[in-house]
Amino acid sequence: MKRSCLMLAVILMTGCFALQAEARPKTRYDETTKTCRILETGPLEWDSQPWGEGGKVFKQVCKSCHTRNNDKGAPFLWTESKTSNAWNRVFTQKYPKCAKDGAWDGISPDQMLKLNDYLYRFALNSEDFVDCG
Ligand code: HEC
Repeated sequence: MKRSCLMLAVILMTGCFALQAEARPKTRYDETTKTCRILETGPLEWDSQPWGEGGKVFKQVCKSCHTRNNDKGAPFLWTESKTSNAWNRVFTQKYPKCAKDGAWDGISPDQMLKLNDYLYRFALNSEDFVDCG
């Protein structure tokens, strides 16, 4: 009895994860380039996805400061710190102080788009998106 309950729980949870994965946005309208960006191309392998490189930039550049309990005065940030639309605003307006202070300067325009793609795709409530294209 106990065992079958556990099995049922596992099956239900797997279903939930599958649904969540499906709810991820497949496209992103980019205000800066006025283009519709495709966020998924075939099998979900990190490196082959358009946002794969964006994830690396986030880790290497942004997370050099925005870790938990850092001594740089940077708030902890991860993909779910903001909604998809809020992340878009971060990149269209480049309002964070760190962007103005030059902490983003080493990132190429192409990497910036991919970083935005990555954060948009894995954002908080990223199911509240509007597909373009
Ligand atoms: C050199 C350290 C540093 C790096 C690198 C850095 N940041 Fe920041 N960031 C800060 C600090 C410090 C603040 C807080 C500034 C303030 O408002 O006083 C901040 C603030 C922010 C905020 C505003 C806080 C909020 O919750 O809205 C956002 C968004 C942000 N950074 C995003 C990024 C992103 C995206 C990257 C990578 C492209 C990045 N940061 C790279 C130091 C950094």
